[in-house]
Amino acid sequence: MTFAADAVRPPDLDVDALRVCFPALRSGTAFFDGPGGSQTPDVVADAMRDAMLRPLSNRGTNTESERNAEAIVHDFRRSMGQLLNADPRGVIFGRSMTALTFDLARAISATWRPGDEIVVSRLDHDANIRPWVIAAGRADVTVRWADFDPDSAELPAENLAALLTERTRLVAVTAASNLIGTMPDVRTIAADAHAAGALLYVDGVHYTAHNVVDVVDLGADFFACSPYKFLGPHCGVVAGRPDLLDELHPDKLKPSTDQVPERFELGTLPYEIMAGVSAAVGFLAGCSGLDGDRRARLVSSMTAVARHEDRLRVVLESELRRLPGATLHSRAAYRTPTLLVTFDGHRCADISARLAAERINAPAGSFYAYEAARRLGLPEGGLRIGMSPYNTIEEVDRLVSTLTTCVAA
Ligand SMILES: Cc1ncc(COP(=O)(O)O)c(C=O)c1O
Repeated sequence: MTFAADAVRPPDLDVDALRVCFPALRSGTAFFDGPGGSQTPDVVADAMRDAMLRPLSNRGTNTESERNAEAIVHDFRRSMGQLLNADPRGVIFGRSMTALTFDLARAISATWRPGDEIVVSRLDHDANIRPWVIAAGRADVTVRWADFDPDSAELPAENLAALLTERTRLVAVTAASNLIGTMPDVRTIAADAHAAGALLYVDGVHYTAHNVVDVVDLGADFFACSPYKFLGPHCGVVAGRPDLLDELHPDKLKPSTDQVPERFELGTLPYEIMAGVSAAVGFLAGCSGLDGDRRARLVSSMTAVARHEDRLRVVLESELRRLPGATLHSRAAYRTPTLLVTFDGHRCADISARLAAERINAPAGSFYAYEAARRLGLPEGGLRIGMSPYNTIEEVDRLVSTLTTCVAA
């Protein structure tokens, strides 16, 4: 877990106060399925509704409705810039991280030459593998695969460094595995990639929900994330270095703007979704219990979120170790509070269904971490239990006692 180097320890997360803001929690369901998508606070839904019910048309400066659209777009880029410590001029909106990564892979690979090389990792979600592999195939570029150790669940930076040559154009790596939580040392990977003259594309989808993100400090040239994993609406965002984006020329319509980042955002933007993203960032900033500028409050909030989730993770992990026949596959030294577990003699899909019947959400599968699941020898994956800011110790107790009954059966 990466905490900010803060002299003052930020206040603990007020989980009771936070939970009141999530209408979905009133159902009584315990949501351990946050890595697939988080629940939504009312202010996010309100912001989306307000955006649609106020005067709204395409961006511009002439009418009130144009100005409202314009303000939403600026607010979105500023908010995501504050969350990620990224330059708002490089914040690109997309339908999903997957769609954005395919688009960027097409645009970036147009600069590659036959015989160039790229590095991808087997720890990654397929959304940060396949777009690059497909683009490499089209451009006659060699793909080098960095492997993780299935026993320790670690992806050491050296495993990527060993694959770098003077022909490497890009390294694509996750900041955190959505399957087993492993957080590779992205700072070192970035330094190595840059020393070799390569760009670094970081999948921050899982990482952003659980960490203070600082794309400058990480050294990511591109950092992709998905607001629906951190209390926002369903969409994707990439923060790219504006100077690099300036050099890329994606397919676009003739009359559409050639400005960055707009030239990467095809068609009319969904203003209501962008308003929801800004509201989610505002909500996160408001969890800090501190005053100060937005970025400082976000750092404090995400530090408190990480500490709360990690406390729950530690309790759950020690309980899971006691369960007969349970194997924990999340083992890396630095990892998110997302646990992959399998049970001797039981199908995880059955256990997930039993939990669902008790209103406990914890899905079974490999969650598109296709290569990682195979490398672990678990092509069908396992039971994934993920912590979110709104989870409580009572929910963890409920989960453990239901799992105890399941494995005893
Ligand atoms: C680590 C990781 N990367 C990428 C993705 C794909 O994100 P999106 O659904 O926005 O395409 C996911 C989705 O679960 C993910 O967990």
